[in-house]
Amino acid sequence: MFDALVLDSQDDAVTAAVQSLEDTQLPDEEVLVDVLYSSLNYKDGLAVTGEGKIVRGDYPFVPGIDLVGRVVDGGLSDVEEGAVVIQTGGGLGESTWGGYSQRQRVAPTWLVPLPDDLTPLESMVVGTAGFTAMLSVMALEHEGLQPGDGEVVVTGASGGVGSVAVALLARRGYDVVASSGSEDAYDYLHELGALRIVGRDAFAGGPSRPLESAQWAGAVDTVGGDTLAALIPQMDRHASIAACGNAGGAALSTTVFPFILRGVNLLGIDSNTATLKHRREAWSQIAQLPNDVLSQIHAATIALGEVPAWSRKILQGDVRGRVVVDVNA
Ligand SMILES: NC(=O)c1ccc[n+]([C@@H]2O[C@H](COP(=O)([O-])OP(=O)(O)OC[C@H]3O[C@@H](n4cnc5c(N)ncnc54)[C@H](OP(=O)(O)O)[C@@H]3O)[C@@H](O)[C@H]2O)c1
Repeated sequence: MFDALVLDSQDDAVTAAVQSLEDTQLPDEEVLVDVLYSSLNYKDGLAVTGEGKIVRGDYPFVPGIDLVGRVVDGGLSDVEEGAVVIQTGGGLGESTWGGYSQRQRVAPTWLVPLPDDLTPLESMVVGTAGFTAMLSVMALEHEGLQPGDGEVVVTGASGGVGSVAVALLARRGYDVVASSGSEDAYDYLHELGALRIVGRDAFAGGPSRPLESAQWAGAVDTVGGDTLAALIPQMDRHASIAACGNAGGAALSTTVFPFILRGVNLLGIDSNTATLKHRREAWSQIAQLPNDVLSQIHAATIALGEVPAWSRKILQGDVRGRVVVDVNA
C-alpha cells in the first residue's frame, strides 16, 4: 500500500483527500517509479481545487504535473531499473495519473534522466515552472536575443516561472527588469538578479496606443491578458516576447502594427508538449544554475495533505517562488 492525493468529482465539485492505494490500482503504463518528490504549479492549483478544467482523465484521479522518482521496473522500455528520472508535463496529472503519489506508473515517452548536477529535490524546485522559464529563454535566444541588447522584462516575476526566468536571465548576463505586484518580493527579486523592478500596474489596462516608445529587448510574459497587450507595443524592433502564461487573463487584444511595423515576434511556449530533444537540452542548461539560486527560489516543502490548502494559495497569487511536494513526508 502507498499514499496518494486522490481527486473525486461530484456534481461538478472536486474533492481532494490522501488515500491508501495498491499497485494494481495504478494506470496501465510501462514504467513503475517510486516517486521521491513532486511540485506545486499554478496548473496543479487549478486541478486540485477544480477551478480549472485541467483533468482530462476519469475521476477518481491522482493529480500532480511533475515528478522525480526512482525506476522500480522499466517494463519493455529502455528505462533502467534504479535510474532517477524526471517527468514534467507530457499529460502527467492531466490525462494520466500524476506525481502526488508515493508510486506511479508512467509512459517512458517524456522521461528525462536527472542531470548529474541536480538533486531530486532541486529538480522539483525547478519543476514545470522552471522548465517553462528555461524554454522561454531558449526561445528568445533562438530568435537572436543576446546579453547587451537591452533590458529584458519578466512579468509575474515573483511566481514560479517568473522567479526562475529572472534568475536564468541574470546568470546569462542579461539586464533583467522584474515586473511584480508583490512589493514584499522586491528584495527577493533583486537577490535573484533583477536590476530594477516595475510594479504590476505599469502594464495594467493594456496599451494606450498601437505603438509606444520601444523599451524592451525581450520579454518573458507569465501574466497574459492586458499585461501582454501592453507589452507588445513597447517592444524594440525585431524583439521577441515568450508568451507562456495567463495568470492575469487569457484574452488578448492587440493590433497588427507592432508585428508589421516593428517586426515584433510573439513566441508561444508550451512546456507540456516540448520534444524530448528540447527537454534534454533545457534540463542540461537548468543544471548549470548555482545551488544557492535554487535555495533562494525554494519557498517551501509540503506534504501531500497540505497540497489542497497550498493550491488555494497559489491561485490567490500568495506563493513566492517554488513549492516542492515531499510525497513521503
Ligand atoms: N506555457 C506553459 O507551458 C506553462 C507552464 C507552466 C506555467 N504556465 C503558466 O504560467 C503562469 C505562471 O505559472 P506559475 O506556476 O509561475 O504561477 P505562480 O507561481 O502563481 O505565478 C504567477 C505570478 O503572476 C502574478 N499574478 C498573479 N495573479 C495576477 C494577476 N491577476 N494579474 C497580474 N499578475 C498576476 C504574480 O506575480 P507578482 O506578484 O510578482 O506580480 C504571481 O506570483 C500560469 O498562468 C501558468 O498556467 C504555463
